[in-house]
Amino acid sequence: MVKDLFNRPIKDLRISVTDRCNFRCPYCMPAEIYGERYKFLPKDQVLSFEQIERIANVFAELGVSKIRLTGGEPLLRQDLDLLVKKLIQIPGIEDLALTTNGYLLYRYAEKLHEAGLKRITISIDTIDEDLFKEMSGVNAELSTVLEGLDLVERLGFNPIKINTVVQKGKNDKKLLDLAEYIKSKGHILRFIEYMDVGNLNGWDKSQVVPSAAIVKMLDKKFGITPLEKQYINEVANRWKYNDGSAEIGFISSVSDPFCGNCSRIRLSTDGKLYTCLFSDLGFDIKSTLDSDDDKLLKDKIMQIWGNRSDQYSQIRFDTKKKKPTKKIEMYAIGG
Ligand code: GTP
Ligand code: 5AD
Ligand code: SF4
Ligand code: SF4
Repeated sequence: MVKDLFNRPIKDLRISVTDRCNFRCPYCMPAEIYGERYKFLPKDQVLSFEQIERIANVFAELGVSKIRLTGGEPLLRQDLDLLVKKLIQIPGIEDLALTTNGYLLYRYAEKLHEAGLKRITISIDTIDEDLFKEMSGVNAELSTVLEGLDLVERLGFNPIKINTVVQKGKNDKKLLDLAEYIKSKGHILRFIEYMDVGNLNGWDKSQVVPSAAIVKMLDKKFGITPLEKQYINEVANRWKYNDGSAEIGFISSVSDPFCGNCSRIRLSTDGKLYTCLFSDLGFDIKSTLDSDDDKLLKDKIMQIWGNRSDQYSQIRFDTKKKKPTKKIEMYAIGG
């Protein structure tokens, strides 16, 4: 098993299967920049399913047991179910999940389920229909996402997690309605502190609502109790409603960074590896696929991980530490 410079193993591989998205969330792909004329990756630069499978196999040999499919919006990738079928068969892969905005679930959830996907995370920032339209950047209908949510419930996906990025002055006043709705369905709602990912969202610390404030608000309204971590590198701090109806999570990269146990690596659509969500440098591994010898690929990954020293969230506010100058955009590595 390979360890990085801080003795962290690789456990999770996050695979971005497309850089395209059908939403234009202003904090990720502002519509002014990603308009009709924006050039996404051409097809010949996108990793094929066979290439992704090969890379995933090598990661599994290096100790990865969890894979998450992301985008952009992963459901825009044609025949995604075929990739699911391949990935779940890889020896050592115990967990395969998908993070989606949910807009196309009504169309693809059944096929994905048949292919063997059991776990899903849907991003829903609000259940206020007008605000949802605004936050999607494309006037998206919330009801379409909720229809997708109903479908994955009926199909038996478990657990179902809902990701909510909290932005002060945007959706922070409407969190209780959302919590009530997701609680009534028994799903896991996770509040994510708004982060300074990428270079385009004009992030400022004043837009972050610290998780502690939401904990307080939820406790006052419903009564909640903290839970133990399930595994050491878990991103969310878990809580439960005192009435036992559901679990809640807090992903507090700004107020309570978790780099110390970070064992995630990200593969971009065009075959680059990013050792941190806030990297400015991706390591190209696509070129090593030209050779049939997996040893080259394995050696390259071991070298990349072996030299890793990322801890961005931990040093975010330390003015003396060197930071990446041009960070990778969120939609290119899927969070
Ligand atoms: P499970 O716990 O396995 O369900 O998955 P997860 O929480 O890793 O997956 P998900 O894609 O739902 O992650 C939720 C969000 O947490 C991501 O989209 C990011 O916004 C944030 N996040 C995940 N991993 C990291 C990380 O390594 N660093 C930071 N700073 N944020 C992360
Ligand atoms: N800060 C926190 N979370 C973000 N996401 C996208 N951009 C940001 C950001 N700047 C979330 C999405 C989705 C997940 C993949 O990452 O809303 O839930
Ligand atoms: Fe929004 Fe996710 Fe699409 Fe980015 S990739 S625009 S966060 S739906
Ligand atoms: Fe891992 Fe980078 Fe996130 Fe820290 S900031 S937890 S090193 S991805």
